[in-house]
Amino acid sequence: MARTRVVIDTDPGVDDAVAILLALARDELDVLALTTVAGNVAIDKTTLNARRLVDLSGRRDVLVARGAARPLAGVAGDASEVHGADGLGDQVWDEPRTPETDETAVELLGRLADEGPLTVIAIGPLTNLATALARDPLFDTRVERLVVMGGASFQGNVTPAAEFNIWSDPEAAVRVFAGRWPITVLPLDLTHQAVLRDDDLAFLRGLGTRVGERCAQMLEPYAAYHERWYANRDIIMHDAAAVYAVLDPSAITTQGVTVAVETGGEHSRGATWFDRRRAHENSTTRVGVSLDPERFRAVLRESLARYA
Ligand code: BDR
Ligand code: CA
Repeated sequence: MARTRVVIDTDPGVDDAVAILLALARDELDVLALTTVAGNVAIDKTTLNARRLVDLSGRRDVLVARGAARPLAGVAGDASEVHGADGLGDQVWDEPRTPETDETAVELLGRLADEGPLTVIAIGPLTNLATALARDPLFDTRVERLVVMGGASFQGNVTPAAEFNIWSDPEAAVRVFAGRWPITVLPLDLTHQAVLRDDDLAFLRGLGTRVGERCAQMLEPYAAYHERWYANRDIIMHDAAAVYAVLDPSAITTQGVTVAVETGGEHSRGATWFDRRRAHENSTTRVGVSLDPERFRAVLRESLARYA
């Protein structure tokens, strides 16, 4: 079986954590590295969390490289209200054994793209990818596939107009969406179909494993946050949907689009506009439209159950 070489560019983040554990559970993916970025919490915390998650997975071969501490313009966002002050629901962790690499995130992304076909799964603000492009204008041509969790058509989450990852660094998003790489972008309209429910938390606890218990612990406060904002207990697995899209591209229906990102505006900074008109139906930029929620939950359950 040919394994897909993957880097996950991430700001863990509770849903990032589940996405990473999903990816590391699956033999189809050769996860080479986690590259970190400031987003849900500050860069020191997202990098520490990435190291914790590699430890939790039991893997020794996954690199963790530190990325951007702030967006291209302005100051870093913060979603600790959603993810906890530490970014992972404020649980107790041992000091991780997984080290940080000497290479920066951007250096590592460049090297890994040179060494073979590479899929990048971007589940945080797009600062590292925009910086990699600025450093090497051919970087986009050396990435085989880019999957981005970001954007929203119907409604944002950090503001009514904007989704968090794009809002956190809209200038970077403009550059990334202007790149020549084939992009699959998964906006909130798609990721709100990728949900867990309370019985999934019970399932995870019932596994009796460290991974199952940790996931349930992290997801409980995350679920409580969603209940306050959305008045239901849907536990939205934004970032795991991006890994799911790589595991089985046929599991998500997509549409050819162009993407525009708002960098100005009084109320609309960070908003995304997907031009879904027919002229773009063959575009190599695809927006995720729908997935089967039951199939998604089943894949997530079965994958997380693989940890001993
Ligand atoms: C995205 O924002 C972050 O809070 C999540 O980790 C996810 O990547 C959802 O808007
Ligand atoms: Ca994220």
